[in-house]
Amino acid sequence: MHFTLAHAASVLAFCSAASAAPAIESNTYAAASATSTAAAAPTANLAALGLSKTAQIFLSDTRVDAINNVLTKNEDFVFKFLDKATGGPGEGGEIIAANRKTFPALTGTGIGAALGKLGPCGFNTPHVHPRATELLFQIEGKVVSSMFPENAVNKADGTPREILNTINPFESTVYFQGSVHSQFNPDCTNSTFFAAQSAEDFGTGQVAQELFGTSDAAVAAVFGNVIDGADVDKLRGSISVNVALGVEECLKKCGIPKRK
Ligand SMILES: *[C@@H]1O[C@H](CO)[C@@H](O)[C@H](O)[C@H]1NC(C)=O
Repeated sequence: MHFTLAHAASVLAFCSAASAAPAIESNTYAAASATSTAAAAPTANLAALGLSKTAQIFLSDTRVDAINNVLTKNEDFVFKFLDKATGGPGEGGEIIAANRKTFPALTGTGIGAALGKLGPCGFNTPHVHPRATELLFQIEGKVVSSMFPENAVNKADGTPREILNTINPFESTVYFQGSVHSQFNPDCTNSTFFAAQSAEDFGTGQVAQELFGTSDAAVAAVFGNVIDGADVDKLRGSISVNVALGVEECLKKCGIPKRK
């Protein structure tokens, strides 16, 4: 039998088509486009699958497809922090997170942010961001900022060095990725800050809960875990002496009774 070059080419073509077929069919994205009769970009069909905007953006071939098919409204590019405020877990305040889930336009950008609202003596308890460095910018009032960067950042006496600062309006401080940090409002008025994050899914881990596995309502909000300074005793053992004393002083100054 003559086995010509043309035969070989058609056999090869058949084989590659056959082996590629199952892979294409098991791919939802390709399946979605296969069911389409329109010539529109495949991403146009992702919404019909009930996927979140974030997931649709991830599956878009290009940024142009994501903008044209998913981020179709100009308002998709606006995040209204105050509209997302829930009132927080109590008088302490709350942290409102703009990440790729709450603000899908951030998907693929590598950045996120949070707005911090702390009431009088309010306390954003010690936490880490596992995937981001944070740049805090103080808007109104002030915060006492504490950061423990990592092991071996010590004082001369060998104990951990706490990077403690008071941040005033139009001042910034930086929290390194993975550092344990906290903010408390030392005044009897509100404190508001904006915090840029170097990841669209920066994540937050509250040290006290992670260490002790506590689900105490005072320290179990969805984001940020801001508590009323009056509940400071509940964090005894998981916060620095400096911060504990500062909160106590604030409670006294503002006439806020401590809860036991
Ligand atoms: C402080 O913040 C709370 C909660 O956001 C708000 O209800 C209150 O009006 C604020 N107070 C002032 C003086 O801005």
